[in-house]
Amino acid sequence: MSLRHNTAMPTVLGIETSCDETGVAIFDTDRGAIVAERLYSQIELHAQHGGVVPELASRDHVKKLAPLIEQTLADAGLPRTDAIAYTAGPGLLGALLVGAGVAVGLGNAWGVPVIPVHHMEGHLLAPLLGGDAPAQNLQFPFVALLVSGGHTLLVLVRGLGDYAVLGESRDDAVGEAFDKTAKLLGLGYPGGPAVAKLALGGDPERFRLPRPMTDRPGLEFSFSGLKTAVYTLHQKHPDAAADIAIAFELAVVETLLIKCRRALEQTDCDTLVVAGGVAANQRLREGLNGLPGTRVLFPPPALCTDNGAMIAHVGGLRLADGVCPATDMAARARWPLDALQAPGTSAP
Ligand code: KG4
Ligand code: ZN
Repeated sequence: MSLRHNTAMPTVLGIETSCDETGVAIFDTDRGAIVAERLYSQIELHAQHGGVVPELASRDHVKKLAPLIEQTLADAGLPRTDAIAYTAGPGLLGALLVGAGVAVGLGNAWGVPVIPVHHMEGHLLAPLLGGDAPAQNLQFPFVALLVSGGHTLLVLVRGLGDYAVLGESRDDAVGEAFDKTAKLLGLGYPGGPAVAKLALGGDPERFRLPRPMTDRPGLEFSFSGLKTAVYTLHQKHPDAAADIAIAFELAVVETLLIKCRRALEQTDCDTLVVAGGVAANQRLREGLNGLPGTRVLFPPPALCTDNGAMIAHVGGLRLADGVCPATDMAARARWPLDALQAPGTSAP
């Protein structure tokens, strides 16, 4: 089955405000491509606080979103689009409400359909937008590993909107574990790239951290113990930050590899799609590429982290649902991925 979708409505404006990136993009459904895209990252704003401050995030989205939409429309040479998609969840509620409010307001003003999009579905299908997974080559079913600051999920993707969660984290998400480890080691925010960079100079043989929950069957994850192990090690060896960073990174990567291999065996799939901010991690990419008999597809790094393109894209794919009245504003801090349905039946 092809993932391509035909529609009479060519352009979709995508709005992403679930966390600390204000993302706006325009997807052309006829061409199956993004035609304009703008991203504003709040990283500097939050870095001084060592993590995302929800109230500051909402206020900054309020300031940045409208100008970004104007600029993106100007880049595409369009006065408006034919539909608007926005991240309706999961994420920070105040931040989501900014995107939802603007999307519904514009939808009413333009008289176009407004499509609430699940943030993780955006990540899940982002590889179809570019990189090494052109849409026509990716066939259902496949397994997806979603690894971000808020989620660690293994998902069986049977079709658009047909997702079964195979396993998730019981506590910290893997990106969160990277961020907390970075903080413990005195590194900046976001922690993932900082830990990965420090690990490059570390001795991989010096310390070995546990591979949590790999000694029992199942596809659940738990990363909070790893963070405690990092803390204890750092207390004992305060001058060994690089060696601890590589021990942590190797433990996380091996844990993810073991669970991915299990998920592929269990579902009898030979394709793994990896998405979310942590998919930018080089060591993880190399490890997953080494999985025998498996085709591993990654979105390009710019599509791994939060962005408006992935939301505009899902909006385009979901245009069969385009009957949503623009007044139905939806924002959900929590929204299970497997509560989604195929186009024609979905509601947040
Ligand atoms: O998907 P994303 O941009 O935002 C969420 O929806 O959470 O993911 C952000 C997460 C952060 O925790 C960040 O530290 C992590 O992705 N991350 C990385 C790398 N780049 C970003 N983690 C490990 N290695 C990286 N290179
Ligand atoms: Zn994300």
